[in-house]
Amino acid sequence: MQVWLVSGVVAVLFFALWLLVAHLYNRRSCLKNDYEGHGQKVSLPAAPLSLAIPGPPSLPLLGNMLELMQEHLPNHLTALARRYGNIYRLKFGNSTMVVLSGSDIIREALVKKWSDFAGRPHSFTGDVVSGGGFSISLGDYSDEWKLHRRVVHSALQRSTAESLHSVIQQQALKLRQVLLEYKETPVDLSEDFTVAASNVITTLAFGKQYEKTSAELQRLHGCLNEIVALWGSPWISALDTFPLLRKLPNPPFSRLLKEVSRRDDIIKTHLDGLKLGHDAIKEVGALTDFLRCQNRPEEDTQTLKLTDTHVHMTTVDLLIGGTETTAAWLNWTVAFLLHRPEIQHRVYEELCSVLEARYPEYKDKHRLPVLCALVSEVLRLRPVAPLAVPHRAIKNSSIAGYFIPKDTVIIPNLFGAHHDPTVWKEPYSFKPERFLDGGASLRALVPFSGGARLCLGESVAKMELFLFTAYLLRDFEFIHPGANECLPDLTGVATVVLKAKPFKVIIRPRA
Ligand code: HEM
Repeated sequence: MQVWLVSGVVAVLFFALWLLVAHLYNRRSCLKNDYEGHGQKVSLPAAPLSLAIPGPPSLPLLGNMLELMQEHLPNHLTALARRYGNIYRLKFGNSTMVVLSGSDIIREALVKKWSDFAGRPHSFTGDVVSGGGFSISLGDYSDEWKLHRRVVHSALQRSTAESLHSVIQQQALKLRQVLLEYKETPVDLSEDFTVAASNVITTLAFGKQYEKTSAELQRLHGCLNEIVALWGSPWISALDTFPLLRKLPNPPFSRLLKEVSRRDDIIKTHLDGLKLGHDAIKEVGALTDFLRCQNRPEEDTQTLKLTDTHVHMTTVDLLIGGTETTAAWLNWTVAFLLHRPEIQHRVYEELCSVLEARYPEYKDKHRLPVLCALVSEVLRLRPVAPLAVPHRAIKNSSIAGYFIPKDTVIIPNLFGAHHDPTVWKEPYSFKPERFLDGGASLRALVPFSGGARLCLGESVAKMELFLFTAYLLRDFEFIHPGANECLPDLTGVATVVLKAKPFKVIIRPRA
């Protein structure tokens, strides 16, 4: 055991040293490339006439691996786009990754040519977290995947039409109660937002909601968060690029395996309960609908059968896709509003004048343009899934005139698209008013990505963002705690989800 440990540490140190040397080499060659000649920046390719996609210089063996090992990857990939253009390539060994950082180019690939880029890259670690590729989010494009997505999509649409509005309203009122109990003491709201968002999904999925103090909820969130954080870490991604490393001890990977198994135990307990208690769960939601569909012999299910593993992984998809994203977005909204408090007053005045005393409904959306502009601007500045999920070309194709061979990995840099200075004026400023004066177009917003892999929960999320924000800003004013606290950091922490760093806020009930 000790020998393993020592050899593991030596290998890791070696690897780190190698990365350091490579990094220094890379910096030198980047500088050389940028300032070649008489200190002038090399001009960017004006148009993709040559067949080679531009990109940063790459190292032997490591390729551009170091470009991915950055603290804030969306920011870094966006900075590279300013240098190499809205389409550039990164190399890893024999494979190539293409980063798309403009909304037009993202639409061209994912919407116009959706059937060319609907795949997901195969990966060792992806298989570990997705039960062998059975989840919708990580599963590759196939007839089985299409059936899986279609069945869950229609089940979600049904429960959205039937019950989502009242489920969100109920959670928004519950959140209101929790916030009242803080009695204007400075608090970090991230956990309360997670509980509210998670309760919407668990109610839809298996008819259950939790209190913040519930041990089961803590366990479930604990392991889902760990999985997302660990899976995004370079020590785990390195296992996909360098298979040899799988033979060495890797404590983060052992932790990942443990958390996946904890996750699966919790979800299995729920699904077993759901199967046994048919009467109690008659009309609860998407997952029950899904289970019913499974047992219905329809034309396309005759040859393809969705299994218990599909149901299991659907629960994981909805919980992971639907909890941290919505919660992170709500937290960002409060963070930005503390920087520009006058915006929340404008929204409050709009809510008062349009709705008088009642609570908002989703159908009021078109009468509340200031609120909608706020939602859009936070989605623009902090698309909470900033790099979407990697796509894979399932056939030879092209993007912006460049040839893209089958199996190329495509990274839709949604964060980059939302900060593109050729589309957005002052792209880094928080200005909801840009959506009010006709200056900014919603078409360039792509927070939910697009095409065959469009976020499955888009309609759920849109209703949540609107109703939660409307309820919060109708009932409360969010105030910066003052001298001893800094204003919230707006850079955030980027893993798979882009989250705000912890900050405190005072919540004052409106008179
Ligand atoms: C602010 C809220 C949300 C944002 C910004 C968001 C954004 C995204 C993005 C960018 C993707 C990747 C699309 C791609 O690969 O090109 C995605 C995928 C997905 N999202 Fe969301 N999402 C949100 C909320 C939700 C909710 C509430 C649910 C569940 C009810 C959900 C379920 C999913 C699923 C299952 C996928 C995988 C789709 C596939 O691979 O076919 N998301 N989301």
